Amino acid sequence: MKLCMIGTGYVGLVSGVCFSDLGNDVICVDRDTKKIENLKKGIIPIYEPGLDELVLKNYKNDRLKFSTNLKDSISKSDIVFICVGTPTKKNGSAADLSQIFDVAKEIRSSISKFKIIITKSTVPVTTGDEIEKIISQKVSKKLFSVISNPEFLREGEAIRDFTYPDRIIIGCNDKKSNTILKNLYSPLISKGAKYVNSSRRSAELIKYASNAFLATKITFINELANLCEKLDINVEDISIGMGLDKRIGGRFLRAGPAYGGSCFPKDTKAITTTADKFKTNLSVIKSVIKSNENRSSLLLKRIFDILRGKIKKKKICFLGVTFKANTDDMRDSPCLSMIPSLIKNGAVINYFDPTGEKKEFKKIRNVSFSKDISSAIKDSDLIIIHTEWNDFKSINFKKNIIKKKFTIFDMRNIYSLTKMKKQKIRYFAIGC
Ligand code: UDX
Repeated sequence: MKLCMIGTGYVGLVSGVCFSDLGNDVICVDRDTKKIENLKKGIIPIYEPGLDELVLKNYKNDRLKFSTNLKDSISKSDIVFICVGTPTKKNGSAADLSQIFDVAKEIRSSISKFKIIITKSTVPVTTGDEIEKIISQKVSKKLFSVISNPEFLREGEAIRDFTYPDRIIIGCNDKKSNTILKNLYSPLISKGAKYVNSSRRSAELIKYASNAFLATKITFINELANLCEKLDINVEDISIGMGLDKRIGGRFLRAGPAYGGSCFPKDTKAITTTADKFKTNLSVIKSVIKSNENRSSLLLKRIFDILRGKIKKKKICFLGVTFKANTDDMRDSPCLSMIPSLIKNGAVINYFDPTGEKKEFKKIRNVSFSKDISSAIKDSDLIIIHTEWNDFKSINFKKNIIKKKFTIFDMRNIYSLTKMKKQKIRYFAIGC
């Protein structure tokens, strides 16, 4: 099939490349000329394991193209995916849909034969109705169908998540388009993905509800971790004990720092704003947002306690600074608030991240980047394991740290409490 992905951010690029790998002809369009030029040279704008090989392979075999010409790309395609950003509005919690509506206006002036127009971007319920309204102002409704097909790709796992999804949600009110999309996704359906056809509004809400639920699950276990710390209980035991109940499930039940990234913080805010607009109070999700926003202050307090209040001139090393492992994404990373607070209190910060130095810290005094793990931890008083990269899972701390007395605060519960105790290492983790 002939596809066009509008927006080569995370969603558009990964989905476009994966669709081309399934044998479709795909044009990835973006108004950012530099990005498109780079992609043509094989320079990928994001860190995503396996993506560069797939881009190269499909670009070489001519199934994948990159373009800045939106009109031309739309007219050459049967299915148009809208994959532009829907960030949180400045000074608010609603999603900013300006890019979506701009694209809808571009699309309506490029339709001459039937097109399926799909929102893959995360958009609030009723956005599909708005897009349909905008396009139908200039184009007959017989010539297009607006569908919601939300993505559920995790950064760092995106190619796997695209190839082996649990479910494919198609929010589509017409039979003809539904058949075309079932066909498009048939290689994934035959590998076991469940295909769900719902109303367009339902599909839009499924995406937000899923992310809000996962954020709730994480926040639930994070709060229980706080209780475990007071009771000398290990939260890992609670996660295992609860997670084995099939009704609950063990995934997304791992306590850690506040959840971050480009989706959970944004989507939890957007769904509550939508609900407020429709005079419905999503109080559970509102309290999840509040609890998560408060989590970094709680962890800071724990750091103060671990250092017995003596933070001035203490050398603190952060292992990993992104919001989670296997990504270079700093959006809403919990350390973006923790590091400046520690600096304010006189600490000296050194960090290592497998994805390199971060512009967010370049201008902060007393924050430096180390090129590898051993030089990062060498001179530290406190090592904070902030993300769970495999690289951090078998460090010989005693061999690498020159100081006799050092402490580890493992925010991802990677190491075993008993093994650390045996080695006489002062070790703290979350929820124990
Ligand atoms: C998420 C959704 O999982 C994906 O389906 C959606 O489409 C995009 O948003 P992503 O933001 O890439 O994906 O990250 P995810 O792996 O879901 O983690 C989100 C946050 O939750 C991270 O900060 C992570 O560290 C945290 N997390 C996750 C936990 O603290 N504990 C867990 O058990 C799982």
